[in-house]
Amino acid sequence: MSRTIEISFARSAKPSDELSVLLAADGGRLGAAAQAVDPSGVLARAFRISGFRGKARATTEIGAAQGSPSDRIAVVGVGDPASPQPDGWARLGGAAAGQLGKARKATVFLDVPGIEIGAREAADFAFGMLLRAYSFDRYKTKKGEDDANGAAGKVAVTIVAAAATAAKKEFAAAQAVAEGVLLARDLVNEPANLLGPLEFAERARELGRLGVKVEILTEKEMKKLGMGALLGVAQGSVRPPRLAVMQWNGAPRNRRPVAFVGKGVVFDTGGNSMKPASGMEDMKGDMGGAAAVTGLMHALAARKATVNAIGVIGLVENMVDGNAQRPGDIVTSMSGQTIEVLNTDAEGRLVLADAIWYCIDRFKPAFAIDLATLTGAVMVALGQHHAGLFSNNDELAGRLLAAGLATQERVWRLPLGPEYDKLIDSKNADMKNIGGRYGGSITAAQFLQRFVKDTAWAHLDIAGTAMGSPATEISQGWASGFGVRLLDRLVRDNYEG
Ligand code: BES
Ligand code: MN
Ligand code: ZN
Repeated sequence: MSRTIEISFARSAKPSDELSVLLAADGGRLGAAAQAVDPSGVLARAFRISGFRGKARATTEIGAAQGSPSDRIAVVGVGDPASPQPDGWARLGGAAAGQLGKARKATVFLDVPGIEIGAREAADFAFGMLLRAYSFDRYKTKKGEDDANGAAGKVAVTIVAAAATAAKKEFAAAQAVAEGVLLARDLVNEPANLLGPLEFAERARELGRLGVKVEILTEKEMKKLGMGALLGVAQGSVRPPRLAVMQWNGAPRNRRPVAFVGKGVVFDTGGNSMKPASGMEDMKGDMGGAAAVTGLMHALAARKATVNAIGVIGLVENMVDGNAQRPGDIVTSMSGQTIEVLNTDAEGRLVLADAIWYCIDRFKPAFAIDLATLTGAVMVALGQHHAGLFSNNDELAGRLLAAGLATQERVWRLPLGPEYDKLIDSKNADMKNIGGRYGGSITAAQFLQRFVKDTAWAHLDIAGTAMGSPATEISQGWASGFGVRLLDRLVRDNYEG
């Protein structure tokens, strides 16, 4: 169940009468805080019985410990301080949040022998707790009853840390990013009947409240701009498309903006080149790129990032219908280039072709990064633990790889080149929207590259990472919010100040 966690930081606090959480170092060694939580020292015995050795993110729990002021004591292992893990503190926080159960009040003591826990670590820990606590239960009318955790509603968490005051400041920014991640997850989880192009656009418009300037282009306006590629995809749906343009101006006007473009196919049936029935329900998540861009814009605005950032999302529904486009149709994109649509299921690149061109043409950004649940082939190549990265710019690619390692939203670079580009030349138009049997993610990326001019550009194929994701310490699964943390980090490390 989704818990709303209210986090506060304190330099010292009494153990909660409901739940206290301790950290244990390698070998199950506890810090000084353990004395108040477990005055009779029963934990050492409990560790022996359960085989708990303080390994990173391992957990154990005891109830009704003799003499303890807390009904429950949970312990999370920190592991070997000599080998810290990337994103380790957020994942520890996630593991701790997994122990909350039904508690309405909990105290977490960030105190481990031999490890210095600063403001950054404490804030990351709290951040991980927020991410883990999320689940999509909006449409469950009986909250908490048949859930594994059996809990819903609010929980007040006090995090006890020596660096409490500084941690609180750090946490303000982390919380903004967490909100962005959870917004992206929410958008991906929402079923397509309730989140069509219009509804999605309204969710983007809500960012106005944070100072984001939002424009929503209608079908008529897109026609006028000549967005024939995007409109061709949308024409089979009774729900009209939208293009949402979000601008966050956190830096002086004269600074060139950075730009993010998202594929927002609210549902992908495949169109006339229809997908098989089995698993088609997952295609409600085919707007994961647009969700990540929206979540990122939320994060940047909410933490008042000192950057000028643009978010452009193409919102359409790919349906089967009397008016749906056919294989063989030729459409003219906003760029003027013509496209032979040989497969109506390769629709994401058609939407992005116009969204990317519009973004680059209008804003002349320092770089443009697009995110899209673009190809099944990227899951064949990389599985679910790396997004595919394609770029015409080594510096940008390097920065994305670094941000990926830091946040553990990892990316893996795949090649581009003229031999691949040739594969999408068409007999009847400037290009076709599918390549051959091989290198499906690469030919999709080559297609997009035909719409970026000489702008520094990167394409992230997040089909394997944004949806259908496995559960982790910081996510209960399916919608991960992939991309928000990655790009927030990219901006924070390279484009602010
Ligand atoms: N939305 C799909 C890609 C996808 C597949 C995302 C599985 C998430 C999970 C995309 O529009 C698509 O259908 N791609 C086709 C392209 C093909 C027709 C060239 C694919 O990957 O099969
Ligand atoms: Mn498709
Ligand atoms: Zn799609």
